[in-house]
Amino acid sequence: MSTTLGTPLSPHATKVMLLGAGELGKEVLIALQRLGVETTAVDRYDHAPGQQVAHHARTITMSDPAQLQALIEAERPHLVVPEIEAIATPVLQQLEAAGVVKVVPTARAARLTMDREGIRRLAAETLGLPTSPYQFCDSLAELQAAIDGGIGYPCIVKPVMSSSGKGQSKIDGPADVAQAWDCAMAGGRVSHGRVIVEGFIDFDYEITLLTVRARNASGRIETHFCAPVGHVQVGGDYVESWQPHPMHPAALEQAQHIARTITDNLGQGLQGEPDGCGLYGVELFVQGEQVWFSEVSPRPHDTGLVTLTTQWQSEFELHARAILGLPVDTSLRNPGASAVIYGGVEAQGLVFDGVDEALAIPGTDIRLFGKPESFVKRRMGVALARAADVDTARTNAQLAASRVRPRLP
Ligand SMILES: Nc1ncnc2c1ncn2[C@@H]1O[C@H](COP(=O)(O)OP(=O)(O)OP(=O)(O)O)[C@@H](O)[C@H]1O
Ligand SMILES: [Mg+2]
Repeated sequence: MSTTLGTPLSPHATKVMLLGAGELGKEVLIALQRLGVETTAVDRYDHAPGQQVAHHARTITMSDPAQLQALIEAERPHLVVPEIEAIATPVLQQLEAAGVVKVVPTARAARLTMDREGIRRLAAETLGLPTSPYQFCDSLAELQAAIDGGIGYPCIVKPVMSSSGKGQSKIDGPADVAQAWDCAMAGGRVSHGRVIVEGFIDFDYEITLLTVRARNASGRIETHFCAPVGHVQVGGDYVESWQPHPMHPAALEQAQHIARTITDNLGQGLQGEPDGCGLYGVELFVQGEQVWFSEVSPRPHDTGLVTLTTQWQSEFELHARAILGLPVDTSLRNPGASAVIYGGVEAQGLVFDGVDEALAIPGTDIRLFGKPESFVKRRMGVALARAADVDTARTNAQLAASRVRPRLP
């Protein structure tokens, strides 16, 4: 099998549409641009980061099935790449089944991972992978009953549809339950009151195992693993990551087994054949030699921003290559770390002081995402650092991030 790539803005262009054009989508778009792909960046607001680097920018409500279908049918890209979860994924499944478009990695993967229930039931109940104990609940009374009936304390409550820790809280005892329920109701993406309650896993550390399904020279799909990415989450949102994270060999083997099992399933084609090329971010909890599956993104992962400075091919380049049917190289180049730069203020059109001071630290790099609007806890950029060891890289990435000072213009 051979891949043919076209010339952008010509009749034989290879066209890729990204649904979601934030900082992760922006890097995927840059990687695609480098291969001469004609790109369209879709988001819910104008001048989203990825729209600033794509050939074409479109602004629609991606959770609206009619708008999404009309756009895909009008533009007829070769590939549609969901970059966020909040998309009308049933439309993608219909269009894929009708042969209108190929969805990356598959429409089914996008659908199953858009809410916590689909992916958790697949992982735990269908595939038998180890996860935290869990239950789904539709009311405060059901939540209390689930905790009393076996989940116990401490536990974590999350809206079924949410990301970046929104609406998520830890329950340490009976006094916290009602507040956790209210927090989940306020933080969910859609206004239905379903939550997952999970037993708290007292892990030693958590990792993202970036896993790539890509075609080899003979066209067969193979699974490749990046070195484990360690990270720190605050309130369910990533603040710092590094690579490689050292692991006990038995834990690494188990982590790779879990990642292969879930991606083999999500990567199945419409007839169950191997398909679903692309990069997946498999989130795992580790305690000693024991590993639990937490969740998976069928796309580049925010903690994997670190690969911009640690790997020969970043997670974004790996995704771009894999979805185009090209071979990949997941090898590590050097240890490194990333640290998030938050907006810190609510404002339009921030300015950033101190980038020069940040970049004066050896081995550092900065990405400013170009988001038109800032919130206190909105991710506006990331500091990257490479070094001979992870500890030095973490120190330098955090120092660099702290030197970048966003402010009102
Ligand atoms: N059962 C659990 N036990 C212990 N910690 C947990 C558990 N579930 C979640 N966490 C902690 O909360 C973080 C966020 O949880 P999760 O990944 O489920 O939420 P999310 O909103 O999807 O976050 P993101 O979109 O950033 O990945 C985890 O990375 C982990 O640090
Ligand atoms: Mg997560």
